[in-house]
Amino acid sequence: MSINILNSSKSEVKDAESLRQLQYIEKAKEKVAALEKKLGRKLTACTVTFGCQMNARDSEKLLATLKLVGYEEATTENADFVIYNTCTVRDNADQRLFGRLGQCSSFKRQNPYMKVAVCGCMMQEQSAVDKIKKSYSFVDLIFGTHNIYKFAELLDTCLESDRMIIDIWKETDKIVEDLPVLRKYPFKSGVNISFGCNNFCTYCIVPYVRGRERSRSPKEIIRECEKLAQDGVREVMLLGQNVNSYGNDFKEGDPDKISFAELLEEVCAVEGLRRVRFMTPHPKDFSDELLDVIERNPKIARHIHLPLQAGNDEILRRMNRRYTKESYLKLAEKIRKRLPDVAITTDIIVGFPGETKEAVDDTIDVVRKVSFDNAFTFIYSKRAGTPAASFEDQVPEEVVKENFDRLLKVVQETARSQAAKLSGRTETVLVEGVNDHDDSLLTGRMSNNTLVHFPGDKKLIGEFVDVRLDECHGFYYMGTLA
Ligand code: SAH
Ligand code: SF4
Ligand code: F3S
Repeated sequence: MSINILNSSKSEVKDAESLRQLQYIEKAKEKVAALEKKLGRKLTACTVTFGCQMNARDSEKLLATLKLVGYEEATTENADFVIYNTCTVRDNADQRLFGRLGQCSSFKRQNPYMKVAVCGCMMQEQSAVDKIKKSYSFVDLIFGTHNIYKFAELLDTCLESDRMIIDIWKETDKIVEDLPVLRKYPFKSGVNISFGCNNFCTYCIVPYVRGRERSRSPKEIIRECEKLAQDGVREVMLLGQNVNSYGNDFKEGDPDKISFAELLEEVCAVEGLRRVRFMTPHPKDFSDELLDVIERNPKIARHIHLPLQAGNDEILRRMNRRYTKESYLKLAEKIRKRLPDVAITTDIIVGFPGETKEAVDDTIDVVRKVSFDNAFTFIYSKRAGTPAASFEDQVPEEVVKENFDRLLKVVQETARSQAAKLSGRTETVLVEGVNDHDDSLLTGRMSNNTLVHFPGDKKLIGEFVDVRLDECHGFYYMGTLA
């Protein structure tokens, strides 16, 4: 874990709100120090993250605050401060939280000084907060996505209170810059470019729990990228629910109003950065300008994650995706033609209300035609409050299961055949760490996002090296340093 804490000194901080939060860090620090003295030991804290890269990035901010306050990082939930950063995109994410909270209660019984906090997307839903109040009343602090920047203040309040503190905001138009962050990797980092989503796909809870789309100013984004690069970061991933609608919320005539393609090009120009990724573009907003920028900037990773969700026009219409099977195929074809080295990956939902076997055949047809390099397939999960939750023709479980298995087989076929194409090539990879199962091997990520494992020295972690791709094992490669 990198211990570089960005923006932690007051002289670098401009945002008034983040200055206020730094003052709370000082206050909370005194409380933690006093408790340490009383207990005669160091205090520990653990962050548990569910969900997407946005949440992972938020957790880096939470952990920075906890460390600045004086907690040592713990890897298990048997700690003095545990914070769960939740996701609610599908029901299984919700269930995972309740399982973990159940286990956590036994740690809390053994440690009277332990504090438990829950934050993130799921806390934006009243029903989830009610359930915690009723069944997990040992939780000390609950807050949501819009006021996460206030964590230092909430932590300070929590440390001096015995009552459950709940602070949830319905909406915000605020972006607080300059909060401390503690990166998980010293050499790569996510960078938020926008928050929230305006698309309202009918199955999706994200617009309700993350609010309306708010783009960060391009100056702030570039400033953050420059700082990260100075700090040793070599690869950034620009994050947003719909990155290619970046800037649409700026008014005409605002000098900040630039397109995502222009922003991407500016980020590529930041000295010290060697690779730039982005996640997630929406097919309906994918411009030719963006393709031009990717084509002429070798720093941009050769990977486009282009969520399909479904391949049938009627289902796409009912999902409110605002593209058709044909327009998606055209776009994918254009990408393949102009950028033959780019891996195209996708997300697909099976079992959306009204989805027939024939509709799934359309999806499978798209998978075959695009020959996706990888696809995340999800079973539709009904989210309360979304339009699709009240659609009448919900699909029976056994039909969903059958369609899911059929789709998965084809996805695996195309992914295998795409990966196999790289055999024998030499690729530049960013070495991310030691292999999970064999510590004589390193794991590197290619520009197109494929992983390769190869023998090498730990000193190479964080470096770009050339690796020969010897053997394809389905989704990853075994290789040797070139
Ligand atoms: N903004 C991104 C990511 C959204 S969440 C996008 O538009 O793609 C990540 C993925 O979760 C989505 O692409 C979708 O495939 C899946 N997902 C979202 N809501 C879902 C639901 N109710 N049930 C099943 N999968 C869902
Ligand atoms: Fe959800 Fe659609 Fe927004 Fe993605 S684009 S976050 S799927 S509403
Ligand atoms: Fe989950 Fe929230 Fe991300 S619901 S997928 S953590 S935006």
